[in-house]
Parts: sequence; structure tokens; C-alpha cells
Amino acid sequence: MAPRFDGATVVLSVDRLRTVFETAAQTVVAVDDVSFRLHQGEVLGLVGESGSGKSMTGHSIMGLVDPPGRIADGTILYRGEDLGHASEDRLREIRGNHVAMVFQDPMTSLSPTLSIGAQLAGVLRAHRRIGRREIRERSVEMLRRLDIPSPEARLRAYPHELSGGMRQRVCIAAAMLNEPDVLIADEPTTALDVTTQAQILEEVRDLCRNTGTAVIWISHDLAVIGALANRVAVMYAGQIVETGPVAELLAAPRHPYTRALLSAIPGANRGVRRLPQLTGEVPAIGDVPTGCRFRPRCARADAACEAPPVLVACGIGREVRCVHPLSDADATIDGAIP
Ligand SMILES: Nc1ncnc2c1ncn2[C@@H]1O[C@H](COP(=O)(O)OP(=O)(O)OP(=O)(O)O)[C@@H](O)[C@H]1O
Ligand code: SF4
Ligand SMILES: [Mg+2]
Repeated sequence: MAPRFDGATVVLSVDRLRTVFETAAQTVVAVDDVSFRLHQGEVLGLVGESGSGKSMTGHSIMGLVDPPGRIADGTILYRGEDLGHASEDRLREIRGNHVAMVFQDPMTSLSPTLSIGAQLAGVLRAHRRIGRREIRERSVEMLRRLDIPSPEARLRAYPHELSGGMRQRVCIAAAMLNEPDVLIADEPTTALDVTTQAQILEEVRDLCRNTGTAVIWISHDLAVIGALANRVAVMYAGQIVETGPVAELLAAPRHPYTRALLSAIPGANRGVRRLPQLTGEVPAIGDVPTGCRFRPRCARADAACEAPPVLVACGIGREVRCVHPLSDADATIDGAIP
């Protein structure tokens, strides 16, 4: 029986991660003071608006931040091994075998000039000696598990011959081929129609349950995360502003930003739904306000918010970065302004 989420074994531990883009003109902090633990078999949802640092968190874990970006601070431990001090060879091994990522755009990870079969074979051959027959069997099996029709024929196809949904399924198949410990899925279904999205979410969840793979599921959509994750980390302007078990966090958000995100989900919560929609934009990352970064958009802001808030515990397994966190009552009362 494959291992399941038991809340005990930590496979990935991210501590005070800070990722910056440095140019002569300015230093942009894309990820700032991000910490979390991921347990075996767990699905952690990373949610936030565009530009909040979700992808950069994933890329940092994978060691795939391109210059002028770099990890400026913090540690990333894979089963206790510090990836910041790992050799390039070891990082490649970890990336191929143990920690895999499905990128936002499937065409960035698929080569247009190689057949699907050749690409999957490349993944399988990268880290072990494996015969042609086994490669074929494992590739067909993985495509079948992701509900790709006629998998044998698909191996001969090229990416441009497949639909968007099929291409994304192939990327997920490639990432899952070596049954990684950790899968980072970066909005893999956003560009797809709702039915295909739902099918793929279910397939990936079942696949990961069977292999015991822990998942970081990145999405701007709290409804998707609510249906999929065990725990949620909400990101705003490069920082985690609230984290906790999914049911508790959705039932009674503590951070005004989480509540505003929730209010955008039709029917998610009777009380929350009637709140005014979130207005304004995530601050340009080179231009974040001092103090609480959500301050310009927050109706609860006062002088106490002029100092940068830190994450504090607010219940079992829950943390919030806010000096005036919502209570159970004001998290859900009809018509209340945060
Ligand atoms: N190549 C780059 N050069 C400079 N800044 C960058 C670069 N890539 C990302 N950033 C900055 O890092 C911030 C975080 O980007 P990231 O791609 O992680 O956001 P995201 O939450 O994944 O957004 P989206 O939902 O649009 O995918 C952005 O606001 C952007 O300003
Ligand atoms: S710290 Fe202040 S400005 Fe920031 S979210 Fe909390 S109440 Fe709003
Ligand atoms: Mg992104």
C-alpha cells in the first residue's frame, strides 16, 4: 500500500526563502520570507493573485531561477538534504527523480521536434538504465493513467498534434513517470476548459494518492485549491499571509485578503459571498508599500499596520500575517466590511 498523508514525514522544508531579481536599476524581491513544510502524500495549495510569487517559489525549489534572478536567502531541504549546498549533478538527480514540476505553459517543457514517446523515454533514461520494452510499457501505462486515449498511438505523435488538455496531460505524465516524492503543479489547468480542468485535477489527485506523492498545487483560484488541497498557503506580494488546513481556512479566514479571495467564489460561503469584491491590484513588486503590503486595499488598516506584520499562530496549524486578524464572527457575518 502506498504511503498516505499522515502529517508525520516531512519531505520538503522551505525556510525563510527569499528570491530576488537584481538589475543595475533595482532589486525586485519576488519571494520574501516564505516558509512551509510539505508532508508525504499531502496536497498543499499555494494561492494568490498574479505576480504574488507562486511560480517563483516553485522555480526556487527546483533550482530553476534564471539570472538575473537568484535565491538570496533561506534554506530548502529535501528529506533533510540542503539543496542550496547540493552539486549540480545531485540537483539534476533530485529534479528528475524526486521533485518534479509541471510548468504553467506546457510548451516550455515539451520539445516541438521530438515525439511524445521520445520525450518520455528521455525522462526515464535520464537517471537509470532501462530497456526499450520497459520504456514503452511504462510510458503507455502512465498515459493511460492520465486518461489519454490510444496511448500507443500518442507515443508517435508530436506536441503540436495534441490538444491543449492532452499536451498538459503529457507534461504531467512526464513529471510523474519516476513517481516523484514531490510534484509542483504550476496552474497546469488554467488555460483549459472547465470540464477538462476538473478531469485533470481528479486524475492527478488519484495518481498522487496512489504513489504517495506530495503535491504543491499552485493556483490563483481558491475554489480549485479548496477542492484539492489538505492545506493552503495564501500568498500576497511575495509573502505567505495566511496558512492552515483547508476546511478551517475556508470556513473562517483570518486574513482580510483571504476573505476577499473567498468572496470572489460564487456560493463558497453564504456570509462571505456578499462581501464587496476585492478592488485595487497587487502592488508592483518593486514598489511594495511599507508596513503591511495589503494596507492600500484593506478596510481594517490603521496606524498599527504601518509596521510590517509577522506570521503569528492563530489556531491549530494556522498562521496569519495581520495585526487585526478576523474573528470567527467577522470572517463570516453577512454584509460586514472587513
Ligand atoms: N524574469 C524576471 N525578472 C524580473 N522580475 C521577475 C521575473 N520573473 C518574475 N519576476 C517578478 O517576480 C514576481 C513574482 O512572479 P511569479 O511569476 O512568481 O508570480 P505568480 O504568482 O506565479 O503570478 P501568475 O499568477 O501570473 O503566474 C512578479 O511580480 C515579477 O515582478
Ligand atoms: S495588518 Fe492591517 S492592513 Fe494588513 S491585512 Fe491586517 S488589518 Fe489589513
Ligand atoms: Mg505563475
